[in-house]
Amino acid sequence: MNKKAIFNEIKIGSVRLSNRIAMAPLTRNRAGEGNVPTSLNVEYYEQRATAGLIITEATQISPQGVGYPATPGIHSPEQIEGWRRVTDAVHKKGGRMFLQLWHVGRISHPSLQPDGALPVSASAIKPDGETVTYEGPKPFVTPRALETEEIPLIVKQYAVAAKNAIGAGFDGVEIHAANGYLIDQFLRDGTNKRTDHYGGSLVNRLRFLQEVTEAVIEAIGAGRVGVRLSPENTFNDIKDRAPQETFNAAGKILEEYGLAYLHVVEGDFVTGKTTLDYKQIKENFGGLYMANAGYMLERAEKNVENGTADLVAFGSLYIANPDLVERFKTGAPLNSPDQETYYGGDKKGYTDYPFLP
Ligand code: PHB
Repeated sequence: MNKKAIFNEIKIGSVRLSNRIAMAPLTRNRAGEGNVPTSLNVEYYEQRATAGLIITEATQISPQGVGYPATPGIHSPEQIEGWRRVTDAVHKKGGRMFLQLWHVGRISHPSLQPDGALPVSASAIKPDGETVTYEGPKPFVTPRALETEEIPLIVKQYAVAAKNAIGAGFDGVEIHAANGYLIDQFLRDGTNKRTDHYGGSLVNRLRFLQEVTEAVIEAIGAGRVGVRLSPENTFNDIKDRAPQETFNAAGKILEEYGLAYLHVVEGDFVTGKTTLDYKQIKENFGGLYMANAGYMLERAEKNVENGTADLVAFGSLYIANPDLVERFKTGAPLNSPDQETYYGGDKKGYTDYPFLP
């Protein structure tokens, strides 16, 4: 039996985990009517409860935060109730679970928005490419730049959503500041051309993240809050002239709060390239560091042993291996994920991957 440090307990903020292996947040587009978690979603997460920490798929903080069909929310009573069934099932199996707080910003479409409104962003800059809607793919539209006066309301929605998550039984939340969604749109100089105190200088670009983090901490306590960043991901047509500088500063700003962890998507999952020095970001942050993207067991073990990471999150491996921790421990072979069933559908490619006998 494998006895490496990655299988040891760890306390992240207020929460004790049985190991350092996390299930990464994974959009699966299988929420029910009203973007409410269903019994199928309960079964899927329950199957993965031996992860040290499950981070839910990205979950809308508000009706405006939605960007895709059948992604769950945490803003209606029915959604909170649906998630309560998920957390109950995971807790019964001894698992721990954070909900990922999501606002997609410009990565949406009027057909998904309340009253067919334009999606919002830091600035009115259209992403290249197409978005997914209930009627199939459609070209992105030019979003509406948020008015300065509207921003505190969105900050508050993050805090309310965090409270809702605790009400739904989650052990904490992860603020989704990665992958080209709303917070990332504020962080990057390619998508943030604002002239108020949310744009221009690096300090100003970081302000929205900082205000969201402070509001969420005030709502539920720093020990139950993680933040996810993706410094060099170009996904969703994000551009930044100096990502190392942006994210070294983000790490530094987040240092003072005593967060549960910082979760970092390392590299660019569009090009597969990586050139940044993540050690600088980790050192600036100073707290627990969760590494993600492209890890296999060997590198994950090594990096936890030598202190390059405190936890490692696995995405595609968790899609295909509900018992990933047991497979890692025993050296059992891994099931391969089927990309055809990643987004949307039923139990096929969702809850039917085999467990070890
Ligand atoms: C996706 O739907 O493809 C997606 C959602 C959230 C992410 C990344 C990708 O953070």
